Amino acid sequence: MQIEIEELAKEFGASRALHPVSLSIPSGALIALLGPSGSGKTTLLRILGGLEFPSSGRVRFDGQDATDLTVQQRRAGFVFQHYALFKHMTVFENIAYGLRARKRAHRPPEGEIGRRVNHLLDMIQLPDIGARYPSQLSGGQRQRVALARALAIEPRMLLLDEPFGALDAKVRKELRQNLRHIHDSTGLTTIFVTHDQEEAMELADFVVVMSMGRIEQVGRPADIRAKPASDFVRQFIM
Ligand SMILES: Nc1ncnc2c1ncn2[C@@H]1O[C@H](COP(=O)(O)OP(=O)(O)OP(=O)(O)O)[C@@H](O)[C@H]1O
Ligand SMILES: [Mg+2]
Repeated sequence: MQIEIEELAKEFGASRALHPVSLSIPSGALIALLGPSGSGKTTLLRILGGLEFPSSGRVRFDGQDATDLTVQQRRAGFVFQHYALFKHMTVFENIAYGLRARKRAHRPPEGEIGRRVNHLLDMIQLPDIGARYPSQLSGGQRQRVALARALAIEPRMLLLDEPFGALDAKVRKELRQNLRHIHDSTGLTTIFVTHDQEEAMELADFVVVMSMGRIEQVGRPADIRAKPASDFVRQFIM
């Protein structure tokens, strides 16, 4: 799905989280939103997903104005840093949840749900953990399951807010590769929030550098890298 962000701004009371920002995201792209704490990354992501309303401006999905779309109609798959899985449900039940919660007319039969969940467990490279509970998983495994759960609803886009932020470097790298692989095989438009420059450079097709509620740079990782390091430092210190 192609996403068009037009002059989108957000104020919380007297403070501006987003100055008017505009950005065109091609269908199927993997975008990293990179920037320091408080630069507006989460705010932008939440507006796209319908969890937050903009103060002005608009978003278009495949050319259509998304202003009046509900969270459900936007069909975004979310993964957050601390995306609590349901503790009392197994991994299988967690992943199946979004499908089973659908109204009867849209709910796939149980056999189909089972096939889908097993396919997703394969995609996250954890085929054998369906019967486990979240407390029996490592942090990295939990985030993989959160990713599978986000994919289960057949989203039109994936919105990921520092999903690997709490994990150690080795696990982060593995999950990054897994996400890249899933992205390439599903072709889902994916927006990945991070404040880790290396992670953004390694993972994304395009990097969007944010600072103080503004978009400072947009480019392929190589273009961003080509900027002198001092530019980066300046942006991040300001
Ligand atoms: N619900 C809210 N009420 C008031 N201010 C808010 C709210 N959400 C965000 N803000 C403010 O908006 C600005 C941008 O916040 P946002 O959470 O988008 O930043 P971020 O780039 O995601 O930061 P981090 O890397 O720390 O998650 C900050 O100044 C923040 O304090
Ligand atoms: Mg944030």
